[in-house]
Amino acid sequence: MPADVNGGPGEPTPSARPGSGAAPDPGAAPTPLVRDLRDDDLDAVRAIVDHAIVHTNANFCLAPEPRAAWVARLAAVRPRHPWLVAELEGAVAGVAYSVPYRPRAAYAHTAEVAAYVHPDHRGRGLATALYAALLPRLEAAGFHTLFAGIALPNEPSERLHARHGFERLGVLREAGRKFDRWHDVALWQRRLRDSDHRPPEG
Ligand SMILES: CC(C)(COP(=O)(O)OP(=O)(O)OC[C@H]1O[C@@H](n2cnc3c(N)ncnc32)[C@H](O)[C@@H]1OP(=O)(O)O)[C@@H](O)C(=O)NCCC(=O)NCCS
Repeated sequence: MPADVNGGPGEPTPSARPGSGAAPDPGAAPTPLVRDLRDDDLDAVRAIVDHAIVHTNANFCLAPEPRAAWVARLAAVRPRHPWLVAELEGAVAGVAYSVPYRPRAAYAHTAEVAAYVHPDHRGRGLATALYAALLPRLEAAGFHTLFAGIALPNEPSERLHARHGFERLGVLREAGRKFDRWHDVALWQRRLRDSDHRPPEG
């Protein structure tokens, strides 16, 4: 794994859960800790994403990627793109991140985002907490536009993006083939800045 060149681990933030503010309920689910991905999180993150690759159409890889591919991707993107994990009781239970949307230079201010949560911990606000931390980081990093491609159907992911201000632009019909059938992809967008925003040169 590369060194963390993304500004170092941010201050870990016990994330706010929807509806927080009331007195803690001793029987409630533990609050996730959202923090920057560390090098030693890689295998836990891979396991979470690999589960989605093997069992769902949410990720268009047809099979898990080798560890070396992850290492290379992180080295390439993390200088600019935040990768965050949600910890529950000391174990990584979810990840949210951005990657470049497309390689050509005019897309330099555009990122693609995604989140993956361990199947045992879904529906408990982890992805919501991760996005609540990820989006301000992307804004601070100077990004203008975010996209998410959501293979359908995926109500949790569509609701996640809707809650965080993304707009559903439309559906790319039969955009991918996995499990021996075609899959539609909903394209969601969030603009982080006004249209007259001019990023610094460079
Ligand atoms: C999509 C995913 C990341 C959501 O993570 P999560 O931690 O379970 O999501 P949250 O608990 O924060 O809930 C997010 C929204 O989905 C809704 N939701 C959660 N589980 C749901 C379910 N089973 N059915 C319908 N809606 C659901 C929540 O109510 C919430 O919507 P709201 O804000 O309108 O109330 C998770 O389901 C996952 O990892 N899925 C497999 C991988 C994947 O699809 N990744 C997205 C790739 S774009």
